[in-house]
Amino acid sequence: MGKVIAIANQKGGVGKTTSAINLAASLAATEYSTLLIDTDPQANCTSGIGLEQKKVDGSIYEVLIGEVDADDAVLSTEIPFLDVIPSHINLVGAEIEMIDVMERERILSTALQRVRRKYDFIVIDCPPSLGLLTLNSLTASNSVLIPVQAEYFALEGLGQLLNTIKIVRQHLNPDLEVEGVLLTMFDTRLRLSNQVASEVRRYFGDKVFDTIVQRNVRLSEAPSFGKPVILYDASSKGARNYMALAREILNNNPRYVDDPPAQHDPDSTPAIETSSRSSSDKNGLSGAIAGSPSKTPPDAAPSGTDGSSDADRTDEDAGDEAETEDSATSTSGVSL
Ligand SMILES: Nc1ncnc2c1ncn2[C@@H]1O[C@H](COP(=O)(O)OP(=O)(O)OP(=O)(O)O)[C@@H](O)[C@H]1O
Ligand SMILES: [Mg+2]
Repeated sequence: MGKVIAIANQKGGVGKTTSAINLAASLAATEYSTLLIDTDPQANCTSGIGLEQKKVDGSIYEVLIGEVDADDAVLSTEIPFLDVIPSHINLVGAEIEMIDVMERERILSTALQRVRRKYDFIVIDCPPSLGLLTLNSLTASNSVLIPVQAEYFALEGLGQLLNTIKIVRQHLNPDLEVEGVLLTMFDTRLRLSNQVASEVRRYFGDKVFDTIVQRNVRLSEAPSFGKPVILYDASSKGARNYMALAREILNNNPRYVDDPPAQHDPDSTPAIETSSRSSSDKNGLSGAIAGSPSKTPPDAAPSGTDGSSDADRTDEDAGDEAETEDSATSTSGVSL
């Protein structure tokens, strides 16, 4: 039985979709059979992995309203070991359509029961809200990964998310763990990024991943080519960061990793035409995580990097971090 990881933060633009696509692709690259599920009506994950919304017959929308079995909504991608259940703009109406359904928070969990046996990992990209779609994802998951952008007000609103996790544990999914807090869009040259990182580590302690995802232009370019960054530019800082995250998660989950990998039959799922397209991508705390088991010590990347030092920085990386340090910035605006 595979591990289901929801990627959630109701705050918009913090790197949920980027993390979902690239974590799933990195797990698949290490030959763990992985399913990526897009539960956001924006469908950025779907297009970012190279699927055209209009060519999708059965999406997570049809799964949630009971028209299609999850098995039948699974599509293969150009990456071996990586399948996807796409989203569709129709999903905007799903929360209203689900409102009268019995046990409406458990619809996804029930729908995934059969399909989860086929995968080692299932990664769910959540929308930027704490509505019924996110509740369904949290209820269906073993753990939640929380991306936090290394920016002003990074921690704002996290209390609401952690409170939601607590409520889900109490009423819907007692075993839900926090997989980890992931710092994203980190700029090594900005004092602010370092201050936010310290602040996040102070609140979340060892729940913060050692791996930090740095700001990297390849990560923002890759979705417009419908590719995860490891296919778009495997040597980029972004690709290395997400591979390091995948390794850290594998190290933290010996129980799942030691299981024999799920059987993957690349012919068992229909492929959909992938496309290159023009760029259109857009842009009570401790109590809630206390129930999570602590991580086993990873032999993963050293704190703060993907294992590479600043000496590894390439011109490409330098270009990503073109902003200058503003010595006037402080974390005084960060609130919990
Ligand atoms: N590490 C990074 N370096 C550079 N750009 C990034 C990085 N991570 C994400 N981005 C860019 O930031 C924007 C927001 O990222 P993303 O779409 O992953 O966030 P999100 O949390 O899924 O947003 P939403 O809440 O709207 O679903 C995108 O344009 C993405 O390409
Ligand atoms: Mg998103």
